[in-house]
Amino acid sequence: MIKVLFVCTGNICRSPMADAVFQQMVKEAGLSDQISVDSAGTSSYHTGEAPHRGTQAVLRKHDIPYNGRARQFVRNDLTEFDYVLAMDNSNMYDIDAKVNDSTTAEVVMFLSYAHDKGMVDILEVPDPWYDGRFDETYDLVTKGCRALLDTIQGK
Ligand code: 4NP
Repeated sequence: MIKVLFVCTGNICRSPMADAVFQQMVKEAGLSDQISVDSAGTSSYHTGEAPHRGTQAVLRKHDIPYNGRARQFVRNDLTEFDYVLAMDNSNMYDIDAKVNDSTTAEVVMFLSYAHDKGMVDILEVPDPWYDGRFDETYDLVTKGCRALLDTIQGK
């Protein structure tokens, strides 16, 4: 089983969106028994909460189910998961602070795969918590997930 974890700040806007979109792509590719998907937040501000209504609305619009609840990222995730994917530089900084000799995960920026394939020209997913631009988030998340799945399938 290949295990993928998406990490943002609150685990209510960007990472649950990526979690849901990627799970859907994995399912459509017939790989649900080979790739597992989860998400977490570097903060505990929203632990236990459902996604932000903006994320819920976008997922509903695209017929993508999600029933996860927010949880905080923990050091053990760095050995539990194969891929730990940061949404922005601040998330990467907080994840990096927990990296140690026992870390086995590949820890990278979520958009790095799409960036390497020329699909996007940025590495950070802007936070819709501040600007409300959930459709733009969805567009970036979809590209990032497509590139990630292509990368995993190519291995
Ligand atoms: P997310 O957005 O990291 O994409 O879930 C945020 C949600 C909440 C906060 C920050 C970012 N907050 O400060 O409460």
